[in-house]
Amino acid sequence: EASKKPVIAIDGPSGSGKSTVSKTLATALESAYLDTGSMYRAATYAVIQAGVDTSDADQVVKTATGADLKFGTKPEDPFTVVGGEDASAAIRSEEVTAAVSAVASQPAVRENLIKMQRGIIAKAKSGIVVEGRDIAEVVAPDADLKVYLTADPAERARRRAAETDGDESSTQASIDKRDKADSKTTRPLEAPEGSHVIDSTELPIVEVVAKILALLNNRNIDG
Ligand code: DC
Repeated sequence: EASKKPVIAIDGPSGSGKSTVSKTLATALESAYLDTGSMYRAATYAVIQAGVDTSDADQVVKTATGADLKFGTKPEDPFTVVGGEDASAAIRSEEVTAAVSAVASQPAVRENLIKMQRGIIAKAKSGIVVEGRDIAEVVAPDADLKVYLTADPAERARRRAAETDGDESSTQASIDKRDKADSKTTRPLEAPEGSHVIDSTELPIVEVVAKILALLNNRNIDG
């Protein structure tokens, strides 16, 4: 019906500008925001905190699916709580970043988090912007708008390095490694069917957001 607020899927690899774009968009639309990457990071943090070896699939699944995880869905404060502890900063550590692909590759871990993601989306009465790697294809195939954000590899590395105070060449190497590991589970480097591709290499964030808002408006006009 006319009052139904949109579910917007934003997929893309790391450094594509996804998080900043998704938060800015959710703020502009006064909708909720869900960073699914932070959910895989939270599960990974729980595994590390429990002292579980990430190559021990059974223990990884047991710990990750049994963890007490909470996520804030306000774009101005997308907090992550693991076992009652605010882990918003800890989930961005290098240790978590290096281990997250292994944890996210466990089907039972994904199943559990996808169920949680769908529950959060279903409850978002004011609409929601959901960012990740498999949103359009798996989590929310019925999303009202699907966007695939991309950028040249060098630009992605430059952005990630700036965010993490790292140097560009080692950041490039770690992005390549994670893209490769993630590609066994999701398809971070391919645009999902039915998605609008936006290359953000030379576009400022505000222009990417403006493009998405225009797509949303056109969709409303076209029906
Ligand atoms: O977007 P990010 O870098 O915070 O994501 C962290 C990891 O989580 C990423 O390396 C792959 C995984 N991930 C996933 O498998 N599926 C998603 N929908 C989102 C992230």
